[in-house]
Amino acid sequence: MDITLRSPLDMHLHLREGDMLDLTVPMSAQHFAGAVIMPNLVVPVDSLHHLKNYRQAIESYCHQEDFRPYMTLFFKTYSRQELEECGTHILGIKLYPAGITTQSEAGVSDFSAIEETLVHLQELKIPLLVHGESDGFVLDRERQFLDVYRSLASRFPDLHIVMEHITTADAVALLDEFDNLSATVTLHHLMITLDDVMGDLLRPDLFCKPVAKTPRDRNALRQAVFSGHPKIMFGSDSAPHPRHKKECIGCAAGVFSAPVALPLLAQIFEDAGELDLLQGFVSTIACQRYGITPPDKKVRLTQAPWQVPSYYNDVSPFFAGQMIRWSVQSAP
Ligand code: NCD
Ligand code: ZN
Repeated sequence: MDITLRSPLDMHLHLREGDMLDLTVPMSAQHFAGAVIMPNLVVPVDSLHHLKNYRQAIESYCHQEDFRPYMTLFFKTYSRQELEECGTHILGIKLYPAGITTQSEAGVSDFSAIEETLVHLQELKIPLLVHGESDGFVLDRERQFLDVYRSLASRFPDLHIVMEHITTADAVALLDEFDNLSATVTLHHLMITLDDVMGDLLRPDLFCKPVAKTPRDRNALRQAVFSGHPKIMFGSDSAPHPRHKKECIGCAAGVFSAPVALPLLAQIFEDAGELDLLQGFVSTIACQRYGITPPDKKVRLTQAPWQVPSYYNDVSPFFAGQMIRWSVQSAP
């Protein structure tokens, strides 16, 4: 059996920079028609100049693949003119609370100081993508941040706000309260709970922000995604870190799932008896919510089992060493 996906999209992706692009870009470009590129580089992508250079670097690694990098700017206070100049170069602005995750030190520390920029975003119809975690107890961070989402969504009803990589039942429920809220869900948060990360031996490869939560939370995500929730899109949050940053004291947060994303999605949708809903989750819903038209690209998956390598260069992928029933072939 095989399936053909039309223009699959990864709506939350960390490609990194420099030599790492040689690994990350071809991998995502082969499997996806486009991806939303996160701006948390060592020097954050917070100017049009930096963004254009970064996009050019990414494109230079795409080779022949038809792959559209949907670029995002790192949130800071921007003038209306700066945002107008960005025009079609950006898909949205990514807001990180300061210090909440990898390379987010330059993020927002005072939410009362960002109103004017939000007004511009709303007027210019530029989506706001948010890493929604407070600085509270690690398992409560997403839930505590939901009040910020409520406040933003009600005060800026015409601003499209994307709750990135949601992990809790409460975040899923919040989607029903405001028309202008959407969400991305990762592959790993559909598959693992905190038990997988630290219930047995500690697993640096599964440590990410937000951390995986409880079985109840995972069930809520699965229930929403496997029933075709019309506001939830796939965003892998694939976030590679080299081995020396993961297998050490002070392990960096991030799960590298790009190489296994589509095959494993096919597997878990099939196991749930909902393979027909995969197209919506990996493409149609994102196109509708963002109003985008990605390159028309067909990606074929076949039932050809393969074993996930332990490392790609020196990055350990999600599901390393395990078998996956589905493989990505090529354009049909
Ligand atoms: C991401 C990274 O490494 O850049 N890490 C992660 O655990 N998801 C940052 C982020 O998206 O939080
Ligand atoms: Zn991320």
